[in-house]
Amino acid sequence: MIKFSEEKLKEVQAIMARYPEGKQKSALIPVLHIAQEEFGGWLQIPVMDYVAELLSIKPIEVYEVATFYTMFNLKPVGKYVLEVCQTGPCMLNGSDEIIDYIKEKLNIQAGETTADGLFTLKPAECLGACGYAPMMQLGKTYSEFLTKEKVDSIIDELRAAAKN
Ligand code: FES
Repeated sequence: MIKFSEEKLKEVQAIMARYPEGKQKSALIPVLHIAQEEFGGWLQIPVMDYVAELLSIKPIEVYEVATFYTMFNLKPVGKYVLEVCQTGPCMLNGSDEIIDYIKEKLNIQAGETTADGLFTLKPAECLGACGYAPMMQLGKTYSEFLTKEKVDSIIDELRAAAKN
């Protein structure tokens, strides 16, 4: 059964309490982030339905938001999601080459996850760090001024971290 842990539920309730009665929908994005983190890194339909129930809104209102923003995953992803920005400024600074390099290195295509379940490559649109192009988001951190060497060391570090 899909249910937030006691601790996460308190977090969700605190976010909902920021908004006046009847306006709980305003809490949707932060609550979806918590849900994604809590329920395996992606938003399956029962999770979105559960969020809708908590916020007293229709499931379709949750689906609309979850399918609009690329930060929400609608299918299972790896432990680490490499969200490489591919919008103009990043593209002009080599994001296509970085994406191709990651595909080759990890032997996956965009949107796919490595067989060991560690990495998902997810090209993204502008992540608001154009001055640091090319860049990617990795969880809550940004990796900037990417080069192939930088990608190598990031992936090595993540592989090592996953073993611990
Ligand atoms: S274009 Fe890549 S962060 Fe804006």
